[in-house]
Amino acid sequence: MSEKAQLSTDHLLGIKDLGPADIQLIFETADEFKEVINRPIKRVPSLRDITIANIFFENSTRTRISFELAEKRLSADIVNFSASSSSVSKGETLLDTVNNILAMKVDMIVMRHPAPGAPHFLANHIRANIINAGDGTHEHPTQALLDAYSLRERLGSLEGKKIAIFGDILHSRVALSNIFCLQKLGAQVKVCGPPTLIPKYIPQLGVGVEHDVRKTLEWCDAANILRIQLERQNIKYFPSLREYALYFGINKALLDNLGKEILIMHPGPINRGVEITSDVADSAHSIILDQVENGVAIRMAVLFLLAAKRN
Ligand code: CP
Repeated sequence: MSEKAQLSTDHLLGIKDLGPADIQLIFETADEFKEVINRPIKRVPSLRDITIANIFFENSTRTRISFELAEKRLSADIVNFSASSSSVSKGETLLDTVNNILAMKVDMIVMRHPAPGAPHFLANHIRANIINAGDGTHEHPTQALLDAYSLRERLGSLEGKKIAIFGDILHSRVALSNIFCLQKLGAQVKVCGPPTLIPKYIPQLGVGVEHDVRKTLEWCDAANILRIQLERQNIKYFPSLREYALYFGINKALLDNLGKEILIMHPGPINRGVEITSDVADSAHSIILDQVENGVAIRMAVLFLLAAKRN
């Protein structure tokens, strides 16, 4: 890699902090890494002297495996930390936990945490580069980058493209990061879901709000369908999952009646039969597994570019 341009930030805490040029740089770097990971020998020595700790205080399948693979493909040394099997369960604070990990000479930290702002807090208190792998209901920046990258592969430039985000916007870090990322790339964004699951501040972000699924599907070039996050809902936001699926679920009949083709996305994990039916999730219009594949190249690009700033 002979990349000379640099990111404007030392951490990846949220898409809010990135400029359009940062996002383009990440995409161009990911293009190069995507070529690398499709070779028979998928490993490059770019991060050979870098040690990365993946610290996850919340469950994850895709993000955790994707970061670990990205780090291995870049030849970094890695340590994995799960809150459930650590001394956090004995009452240790976040700062003590991380300072102990850093005392073992760790350079970069990839962190998922249920508290919004937890990665920002760490970035203010420690010297390692922090990458936010999802902080509560706030941001999930690498998910938004891999989503936009996957859209760009199919649609070309996102300038003027119409992207709809469906479902549980209120509890979603993916929604906020996607809104920031898509707008920075010039796309138009609408959200669609029950009024109880759409935060009141959404129109202030320049995002359209719609409650009619059919109308929103007719409007958009791509539909990003989000999971109903039952684990974050301590009150009832809709009467039942059955009614949610009936009024807000995306099914094949809706798509067949559109008279045009749109791309179907989902960050996972999917609640099949709730926000999306299996015949839509597994259809030819779905780019859900492209999103997962592209996640590795995007995370390699982010790690590489942040490590380059250390020199
Ligand atoms: N998309 C996503 O963040 O999935 P995981 O929770 O499995 O990491």
